[in-house]
Amino acid sequence: MDNMKIPKHIAIMMDGNGRWAKKKFMPRTFGHMQGSKTLENICKAASDLGVEYLTVYAFSTENWKRPKDEVEGLMNLLKKYLSEYVEISVNNNMRVKIIGNMEKMDDEFQGLVNNLEKATANCTGLKFQIAINYGGKDEIIRATKKIALEYFNKDIDISKINEELFDTYMDTADIPEPELFIRTGGERRLSNFLLWEMAHTEMYFTDVLWPDFKKEDFEKAIFKYSKRDKVCNN
Ligand code: IPE
Ligand code: IPE
Ligand code: MG
Repeated sequence: MDNMKIPKHIAIMMDGNGRWAKKKFMPRTFGHMQGSKTLENICKAASDLGVEYLTVYAFSTENWKRPKDEVEGLMNLLKKYLSEYVEISVNNNMRVKIIGNMEKMDDEFQGLVNNLEKATANCTGLKFQIAINYGGKDEIIRATKKIALEYFNKDIDISKINEELFDTYMDTADIPEPELFIRTGGERRLSNFLLWEMAHTEMYFTDVLWPDFKKEDFEKAIFKYSKRDKVCNN
């Protein structure tokens, strides 16, 4: 794996937990639990490889439509994860940031998010973004509302609105665009993830289900990316 070109920012859609559990005749939540273990390993692998930014999709704005018990199971798992990650992230020098619409989350959830972000704010290693109640369209709408409000208060001039300015209103302000997007679980769509940020991103799809995704699979995705000849004439 020497001489591999390591992307500065990798975005991952962790898909396939439900099917993984089904194959084992287990409840879907068991797949999500196993998936959170995979995530811990992949964070470690990303740090070791020198990836600077890792952004993962944990819960979409569409995922609320799932059966109530699955949504509840996912929320409990996310809460557990947010509290356990205080220690894990500090020990691994990872700065954690949650992206997505937090307004819909309950007070306990928001408290855990603030706590984790504060506890890791000075970590200088991997910059780790977790997308929760995140939708690319929702993020663009929220940014637009912030701009509109500033316009209304006369703090902003329409002629100043451009891509660079818009960037600064996104959840991912200060985070470079991902060079590589990985989706596990065999589906080949974007499912409302980082629509604005992935305008130029290379896409990698694998049939491996997220709970089975190993460091070797991650390295393979990066290897394939680093072998691509990007023909760019602009
Ligand atoms: C991805 O796995 C995790 C979340 C969406 C939270 P899925 O739950 O979508 O698993 P599949 O796609 O049904 O197998
Ligand atoms: C995308 O996976 C969302 C997350 C991984 C959190 P989904 O399984 O929810 O997306 P669709 O239903 O395949 O588009
Ligand atoms: Mg899925």
